Amino acid sequence: MSREPTDPPTVHDLHGPADLTEARSLIAAQQETIGAPVLDEAEQHRLDVAADGGVRAAGWSPVLARVGAQPVGYGAVLVGGGDPSVPGSGDLAPARDAVGLGQVLPALVDALAQRLPGAQVWMRHVDVAGGDLDGAVEAGARIDRQLAVLGRALDVSSDGHANRDAPDVPDGITIRASRRGEDDEGVVVVLAAAYEGTGDGGWTLERFLARQQLDFYDPADLLVAARNDGSLAGLHWLKRRDADTGEVYNLAVHPDAQGLRLGPALLTAGLDHLVAVGCREVILWVDRANERAVRLYETAGFATRWDDVALRLPA
Ligand SMILES: CC(C)(COP(=O)(O)OP(=O)(O)OC[C@H]1O[C@@H](n2cnc3c(N)ncnc32)[C@H](O)[C@@H]1OP(=O)(O)O)[C@@H](O)C(=O)NCCC(=O)NCCS
Repeated sequence: MSREPTDPPTVHDLHGPADLTEARSLIAAQQETIGAPVLDEAEQHRLDVAADGGVRAAGWSPVLARVGAQPVGYGAVLVGGGDPSVPGSGDLAPARDAVGLGQVLPALVDALAQRLPGAQVWMRHVDVAGGDLDGAVEAGARIDRQLAVLGRALDVSSDGHANRDAPDVPDGITIRASRRGEDDEGVVVVLAAAYEGTGDGGWTLERFLARQQLDFYDPADLLVAARNDGSLAGLHWLKRRDADTGEVYNLAVHPDAQGLRLGPALLTAGLDHLVAVGCREVILWVDRANERAVRLYETAGFATRWDDVALRLPA
């Protein structure tokens, strides 16, 4: 349960390993409380390396908010990055169980905005409707991007399927597991066309081959919708997060095949695949602005678990 602090938080730059280790402990405790990561993987890595006495990332400014001696929130900004429209990116991880978010967030937003004005910082596991961000907005931050984290249980029916009312696969299309090498170019054609002009665009063969090197990649978990001529019309790429939980990592239909209900058919085939490998629940991240995709998932029984939000710091 939250309580209001007697004193306002003060925010300090983190220099030595002792400070950084204190920050790392706060993050670990928050992760335990929430049951999900509170930092981006790359940010967690920067913090771990620096806390272990390794080389600090260039242009990286980590801070810790404290009330008295008690750490109540972590934040960091990093100059530069892939997006030329923002001066840099970062993370905000206020403690949820120590003091009110309405106290900690303005202090962190002010401190990070002084270090890198206009940066885009991510805060995870947010209840936007519940007012979690009010303190940040009052401090001048605005919501840049909102990713909904949706989930549902995988109820296994007696015939071993997640969904008895599976939509039909359009004529001339077959859904099957992908084949490494053989399907690589077709997969990239679908991804590049489906996401062209969106914030998730820019797919190339090189990027796809790099993803194949990630630990979780298994061609059996990447389903493709193949046309009779061998070309691909869509895909459903799944990730097994742990033995119980699967993730809709990427669902995409080539624009030429959109509107045929291939998306729902691929979604159902993927959920059935997760059931077959023993998963009991599934989650996914979807941009709230992608109304078609959000509607598709809600129709398939997904509900909001939380939101991950990108805030633009005041300039
Ligand atoms: C989201 C996506 C997978 C849906 O696949 P799909 O096969 O087109 O799905 P559907 O045919 O069932 O269409 C879904 C809805 O979008 C509507 N729709 C289809 N084509 C449309 C178009 N060109 N413009 C606007 N709406 C369209 C459909 O009418 C349907 O609405 P309804 O559920 O109210 O009937 C597909 O549009 C896509 O690949 N989008 C780009 C990638 C993406 O955003 N993926 C999700 C990331 S999490």
